[in-house]
Amino acid sequence: MSENATWLARYGAAYMPNFGAPARVLVRGKGCRVWDADGREYLDLLAGIAVNSLGQAHPDVVAAVTDQISTLGHISNLFTSLWQVRLAERLGAIATTNDPRLPARVFLCNSGSEANETAFKLSRRTGRTKIVAMEGSFHGRTIGAVSLTSNPKYREPFEPLPPGAVFVPYGDEAALEAAVDESTAAVILETIQGESGIVPAPDGFVAAARRITRDAGALLWIDEVQTGIGRTGDWLSYLPTGVTPDVVTMAKGLAAGVPIGACVATGPAGELLGPGLHGTTFGGNPLASRVGLTVLSVIERDGLLDHVRRVGDHFADAVTGLGHPGIVGVTGRGLLRGVVLSAPVGARVTARALEAGFLINAPRPDRLRIAPPLVITEAELETFVSALPTLLEE
Ligand SMILES: Cc1ncc(COP(=O)(O)O)c(C=O)c1O
Repeated sequence: MSENATWLARYGAAYMPNFGAPARVLVRGKGCRVWDADGREYLDLLAGIAVNSLGQAHPDVVAAVTDQISTLGHISNLFTSLWQVRLAERLGAIATTNDPRLPARVFLCNSGSEANETAFKLSRRTGRTKIVAMEGSFHGRTIGAVSLTSNPKYREPFEPLPPGAVFVPYGDEAALEAAVDESTAAVILETIQGESGIVPAPDGFVAAARRITRDAGALLWIDEVQTGIGRTGDWLSYLPTGVTPDVVTMAKGLAAGVPIGACVATGPAGELLGPGLHGTTFGGNPLASRVGLTVLSVIERDGLLDHVRRVGDHFADAVTGLGHPGIVGVTGRGLLRGVVLSAPVGARVTARALEAGFLINAPRPDRLRIAPPLVITEAELETFVSALPTLLEE
């Protein structure tokens, strides 16, 4: 029996069956490469689902973790650290780039779901309960986040869910306008729906959502868990639209693999969660906060936003340039890309890619997701593009 098979059998007996069978047992990584328990090497085009923004074992992350855990790892929220304060200031400034005079307040937690749960609780403090969410949305697996996620597969096994969610077709401005009224606490949306298959909102939709929520006195809540922290070539994917949301949630790529989440509220929304109304034991501890700051510094120092735009566009052009009949097009921005297939063969292509040494996934049957570390090179991406025709063979 191979090492992979041995460990997968033990996993099957020891771990809850909620994920299904993992594809491989990974033991080591460096940059955009990982190795499995049998020594096979893979090019990581998934980054732990848009998390490992700087790849594996990035020297700045290793240094930050090592130094911080050797100095001050965890302290609880009865105390604070300079790292927590600095990261909150930095994230607030990023979220209000389009309106720098607006104050921002930050809550640090441990995951995207928890960041959304925080925003959910915050929205209830408006005194309103309706939340307008989008068809095709994914906001996480806690009960609150599931209630805002449209896919019945995630919702139905856990009903009854918290009441209040209403779903409208993604990108449909008229439907959004009709759904939002004076009882609406918030509108939640992703600028690019990740788990639905890298589906971008149409141009103008985010600005329309800003106008509609402002007119109704509702919060605009943008979920940047998958799209944020440089993934699309901007610090946050909504920034090019010129809007400033009331609430922004982030997680995934923020601390390069160290668990973290952040809920940023701008303007009056920042005052809604008063003393005692919310909390976390681990969230915002010195270790995670320091690594979050390190990631932001490295993205800035190494010009990674420009890099992401450049290599992301190059990848999309190269895939389109294949002119392959099995490929309809490429969606997304920066390094969050969907390869649209002409047939529902995503699972087969993903399995073949794994055999050929590429980690990708298929968030829906006709779509491959490419979300590699932000540090990936054009040459690394090209090895996958060259392999695509073979992976797509009947
Ligand atoms: C847009 C979005 N929101 C929230 C989540 C949930 O994040 P987490 O798995 O860290 O709880 C995800 C995870 O894929 C996501 O893509």
